[in-house]
Amino acid sequence: MLSKAEESRGAGHPAIRHLVAIDDVPDAVLENLFATAEDMAATLRIPTRLSSHTGRIIALLFFEPSSRTILSFRAASARLGAGVIAHQGAGSSSLSKGESIEDTIRVVGGYADLIILRHEESGVATRAARVSTVPLINAGDGGNEHPTQALIDMFTIRKEYGRLHSLSVGMGFDPQHSRSIHSLCRGLSRYANNSVMLIGPRELWWDAAQLDLLRGRGLQVDQTEDLDALFECEIAYVNRFQAERISDLGLALEYRDRYRVRYGALAKSKIELLLDPLPRVHEIEEEVDELPQAAYFRQAANAVPVRMALLALMV
Ligand code: NCD
Repeated sequence: MLSKAEESRGAGHPAIRHLVAIDDVPDAVLENLFATAEDMAATLRIPTRLSSHTGRIIALLFFEPSSRTILSFRAASARLGAGVIAHQGAGSSSLSKGESIEDTIRVVGGYADLIILRHEESGVATRAARVSTVPLINAGDGGNEHPTQALIDMFTIRKEYGRLHSLSVGMGFDPQHSRSIHSLCRGLSRYANNSVMLIGPRELWWDAAQLDLLRGRGLQVDQTEDLDALFECEIAYVNRFQAERISDLGLALEYRDRYRVRYGALAKSKIELLLDPLPRVHEIEEEVDELPQAAYFRQAANAVPVRMALLALMV
């Protein structure tokens, strides 16, 4: 079922050992990954199951809530013929007895061929990868990174907008805590001539060091409190206020109505593509769904072929 190109891509050493940050995907691998994801999407239209990964086991360790990420990784694994073992919720795992994440990873590495980890704490994926004997994928570590979401977002932009360079992207509304925004900015900084406007309340802005880092990588990045700036961009990428990581919760509630994509504003804007990693909480009015720019459910569906391509590359 896999194309010749895909078979040859799978040959030799894995191109990605661990995927902790979007930078762990080398430039040369990115295009291959997107092309393989297109191959995978084509296989989804044929009601047969790939058998390339029969006998392989994927471990899902999700110690923080998840719907899309866990289910699309499960779907991707099933589509490849791999078996899945899973833990959802830290409370039911031995972490709650005081076991370290390192020991958990050492043990699960003896059960599975690849580990996918989500954890509420920034930096845990790095610690886990350090001791993992099998490839490890970071499925979100606190407010730090969510590299597979960035791959899905980039695949979607490439598919719907035709390119990943020379883009003007507005991103909101919690730039400080959204790991999806962090990883996507890092991803877009690898292509020429991209500019990002971060939009949200000043309290949730990036600090100077974060801005400098991305600017140093060639991304033009600025921030504003003005929602109207979003509607001046070609692509809008919005995400809910990350309430679980905001110390002053009243702040998120106060700003919910101010930072919202409404039908009227979007319909008459320059925006050609509206993305959201989801879940949607309040940041996009439901009426917006019927506009052609609303691509977030198509973006969510792209998770399966992109994650299939990634698993095929790493296992
Ligand atoms: C994102 C996440 O978990 O960071 N969701 C996802 O994986 N699609 C975004 C969010 O929770 O707001």
